[in-house]
Amino acid sequence: MRPLRAADRDRVAELVAEEAGGRDYLTRVFDEWLASPGGAFEAGELDGVVVAVHRWKPIQRSVAYYEGMRVAPEVRRQGVGRAMLRAAVEQVRGLGYEVLRLASGNPHALALFESEGFRPRARAAVWQAGRQEGGEPARMPPAADADRLLRALEADPALALYDRLDPLPSGPRDVDGAYLFELLQQGRVREGAGGRALVLVGPGFGGRRLYGTLVAGAGGALQDLLLALRFEADADGLEGAGLLVPPEHPAEKDLQAVGYSQPDLAFEYSVLDLKL
Ligand SMILES: CC(C)(COP(=O)(O)OP(=O)(O)OC[C@H]1O[C@@H](n2cnc3c(N)ncnc32)[C@H](O)[C@@H]1OP(=O)(O)O)[C@@H](O)C(=O)NCCC(=O)NCCS
Repeated sequence: MRPLRAADRDRVAELVAEEAGGRDYLTRVFDEWLASPGGAFEAGELDGVVVAVHRWKPIQRSVAYYEGMRVAPEVRRQGVGRAMLRAAVEQVRGLGYEVLRLASGNPHALALFESEGFRPRARAAVWQAGRQEGGEPARMPPAADADRLLRALEADPALALYDRLDPLPSGPRDVDGAYLFELLQQGRVREGAGGRALVLVGPGFGGRRLYGTLVAGAGGALQDLLLALRFEADADGLEGAGLLVPPEHPAEKDLQAVGYSQPDLAFEYSVLDLKL
């Protein structure tokens, strides 16, 4: 295992060429990951050739996030993926982290992760709607409302379905008072009428949509709020809005009522934690 370098860019592009219909996000984030401080972006080699990559980064004080594991198709099923994962676990454990977290929608990868002791937490399915012209974006509550909003969230059945996680694709975060305060300061909370619906917003998968990553509430207030996300996407010149919603979320009908649906190529992922 060694750190990746700029000179590895072409080899890594080749390694992931067949993933995600030729549009693996790894090529897009390669330079950003090389430059990012903290954590590690590494290559596994066989006979001097890069055959695997992965990355981990800190996301909370005691939590690290593992992502971007790719093994070259020609050497799969020979234990390379498991060896990469174990190396990352040892590194992160040695640095004193308490949890290594990851998210995946690939059943093969999930089998590997569970066999190494990772335990499933939340599941999130992607819902999307196009941008919509002509309405007002939703209310952005001030940071001073953190305690009130946390109480509202704690009283909502959705929070347990998310297993108290904000399932951001860039690193799912535990939802507590401090996290909510941080989001409020960043303008990443939207509130429906009378506080009867709440959505945490964040970066989705490529910046082309405004994503509601945790959706709480139900009924008319939630419908208005979700529609307002579509208005906000329009005002921001984005393609549309997206939502990350656990299966069996009580508000699925409300999502559908205001134009959200799962994409033709439905995508769902699970978040797993390994206690170190
Ligand atoms: C998932 C991936 C990283 C596995 O790498 P790998 O080197 O082939 O994995 P290993 O040989 O170490 O296999 C480890 C375990 O994964 C599971 N697994 C891997 N490939 C599998 C397959 N084709 N069918 C069923 N299980 C599979 C098995 O549980 C396997 O253990 P076993 O061989 O003891 O049964 C690789 O297939 C890959 O790069 N896939 C595309 C990218 C991806 O999905 N990455 C994960 C994103 S988080």
